[in-house]
Amino acid sequence: MKYTSIAKRFLFTLIAVIASVASFAQDATSAPPAKSFWDDPLNHPMFSFYMVATLLFVVFILVIVVSVILVRTIQFLIEQMERQRAEAAGRVYVPSPSWWDKLMQQLNASVPVAEEKNIELDHNYDGIKELDNHLPPWWKWLFYFTIVWSVVYIFVYHFSNSLPLSKEEYENEVTSAAAAQQKFLASQPKAAIDVTTLEYKADAAIIANGKSLFTKNVCASCHRADGGGNAIGPNITDEYWLHGGGIKNVFNTINNGVVEKGMPAWGKTMSQTDVRDLAFFVMSLQGTKPANAKASQGELYKPETKEAKSDSTKVKASM
Ligand code: HEC
Repeated sequence: MKYTSIAKRFLFTLIAVIASVASFAQDATSAPPAKSFWDDPLNHPMFSFYMVATLLFVVFILVIVVSVILVRTIQFLIEQMERQRAEAAGRVYVPSPSWWDKLMQQLNASVPVAEEKNIELDHNYDGIKELDNHLPPWWKWLFYFTIVWSVVYIFVYHFSNSLPLSKEEYENEVTSAAAAQQKFLASQPKAAIDVTTLEYKADAAIIANGKSLFTKNVCASCHRADGGGNAIGPNITDEYWLHGGGIKNVFNTINNGVVEKGMPAWGKTMSQTDVRDLAFFVMSLQGTKPANAKASQGELYKPETKEAKSDSTKVKASM
C-alpha cells in the first residue's frame, strides 16, 4: 500500500544519509596527516564521538520517520471519517485540501482556471488574450525581504561600521597573516644566519656540534669521517677547493649543494644553524692532513686575496 512505499523510501534515504555521514567522518579525520579513521577505527580518538553522533542521528531520523507515518495515518483516518459522514448525509465527499496544497496556494495565489474569465483584460490580439495576474506572493515577499535586507546592510556596513567591508576585511587578514609570519620567524632564530657577515671562529661548542652532525648525517660516507675524501666526495681538509674556501663559500656549498655533482643541498633538510655548525667543522678540518687523503682538487684558495676582510677567517683558513 501507499504507507509501505513511503516507509521504503525513508529506509533508502536513511541508508544513503548514513553512508554520506560515514564518508564525511572519513574526510574530517583524514585532514591531519596522522592515521586516517578507517586505518584503525576502533582505536581512533574520535571513535566514541562518531558512534554517539551516528546513534543520535539514527534516532533523530527514526523519530522523523515515525512521526511522519503517524501524522499520515491520522490524516487518513480523518479522511475516512469525513467520507463516511458525507455519505451518510447524502453529500458528495470533497476532500479538504492538504497543508501542502494550502501552502502552495498561499505562495502562488494563482487564479483557478475556472475563474480566469474574471481577470481577463479586454484586449484581444488575433485571439490571443491576456490575463491580469498578480505577481506571486512568494516573489513579492522575497522582494520586500531584499529591501529590508538592503537597509540592514547599508546600516551595518556603512553607518554603524559594525562589520568590516571587503577591503577592510582583506587588510585585516593581511595584517594578521603578517603578524603570524612575524611570530613564526621569531620562533625560528635558526633561520637567521646571514652569510655575508658570517665569520669563522674556532668556537669549540659549534665545532663539536658540527662534528656530531657530520657523523650523524651521511657526510662521512662521501667525504670520509676525517674529511679526507673518497671515491665520491673531495678532500675537504686541504687548501684546494672546487667551490671556493673560506667560511662563506663553504657555508654556501653545504647549504645549496652541488646537486648535479652528487653533493646534496643540505639547507633544504636542516636548519641554517646546523649548516653553519657543519661549515665551522669543515673549516676546523683545514690542514689536518689525514692519512691516505684524496688528492687535492680545484683551486688553491688564498683567504688573503679573496676574503681579506676577516682576520679570524684568514688565520684559520690558511692553517
Ligand atoms: C652523496 C655524497 C655526498 C654527501 C652525503 C655529502 N657530500 Fe659534500 N660533496 C660531494 C661531492 C661529490 C662534492 C664535490 C662536488 C663537485 O664536484 O662540484 C662535495 C663537495 C663538498 C664541499 C665542497 C668541497 C670543495 O672542494 O669545494 C663541502 C664543503 C662538502 N661537500 C661538505 C659536505 C658536508 C658538510 C656534508 C654533510 C652534511 C656533505 N658534504 C655530504 C658529495 C657528498
